[in-house]
Amino acid sequence: MNEQMMNQTQSQSLFLKEILSSLSEPQKKISPKFLYDQKGSELYQRICDLQEYYLTRAENKILKTYAHEMSRLIGPNSLIIEPGSGGADKVMHLLLRLNRVRAYIPIDISMTSVQSLVKNFYQRLPKLEVVPLVADFTQILSLPQIVSEHSGKKVIFIPGSTAGNFPPEEMKKLFKHYIDMCGGEAAFLVGIDLKKDPNLLQLAYDDSEGVTAAFNLNLLSRLNRDFRAKFNPSEFYHQARYNGDEGRVEMHLVSKIDQAVNIDDQEIHLRKGESIHTESSYKYNIDEFCQHCGEINLRLRKYWKDPEQLFCMYYFETV
Ligand code: AVI
Repeated sequence: MNEQMMNQTQSQSLFLKEILSSLSEPQKKISPKFLYDQKGSELYQRICDLQEYYLTRAENKILKTYAHEMSRLIGPNSLIIEPGSGGADKVMHLLLRLNRVRAYIPIDISMTSVQSLVKNFYQRLPKLEVVPLVADFTQILSLPQIVSEHSGKKVIFIPGSTAGNFPPEEMKKLFKHYIDMCGGEAAFLVGIDLKKDPNLLQLAYDDSEGVTAAFNLNLLSRLNRDFRAKFNPSEFYHQARYNGDEGRVEMHLVSKIDQAVNIDDQEIHLRKGESIHTESSYKYNIDEFCQHCGEINLRLRKYWKDPEQLFCMYYFETV
């Protein structure tokens, strides 16, 4: 067995341990990171194009309208770091307007995404230095050397409400970790969803075409394939719930029957109506979000909303 295969087997068994432990909690859970196998990533792309999932459309409007203002605030000779870059379609709005970008550092767990991103960037911005990192952006311990060597501004770009998939305390820990990896000084350009009418949120996370349902249920097929689980996805249904106390939309997979499911020789029992919590998407008012960022010494420089006031992008700098 070569080293890469050994690492893969080790992380598989760590993931399996994590899955079994979170399924034995009183409210059964599975981390949202398991939603994104190849099919899950394709379904997520389809979600982004849905009329009901306003987030992508609203954020793109903000970026198209205000990228020049954002680039003025960022200034010349900056380094752009994007944790969880995926296809990196949003950062392009910014990179096309920034003055003399030192380099762009996309970080993504998927080697295929990173490879196609590098190819795409080479075609569209051949002069830009791209320093890709294939890694889980929540787990990395250091950034490429170019970051410590760079004396100009380091900007962490987190669009798409990705930060909203972390509970507030974890989000702050993650931001703080990136500030530390940047040597204590950094700027953040973050796009995150605003609190709004729960009916609109409900539609965004339970669309009429059933794409979000397929995205959520695909998690069970993924566990069957990669972790020798024996879920029957047709015995579950997708549910989106707005939890007003926590300020988040939750996705659940609800069991239609009493059942026992085997995962790697362990048995998990589910009662009819019992759910597995698969994702939380936190929503923030502007004051709430700034308060959280203030707690880790990030000062708001400016924010931008779309014309329908659905979504917000914020630019913070360390004080
Ligand atoms: C990736 N993330 C920001 C999306 C969200 O809105 O929480 C994932 C998603 N889940 C259901 N629809 C989209």
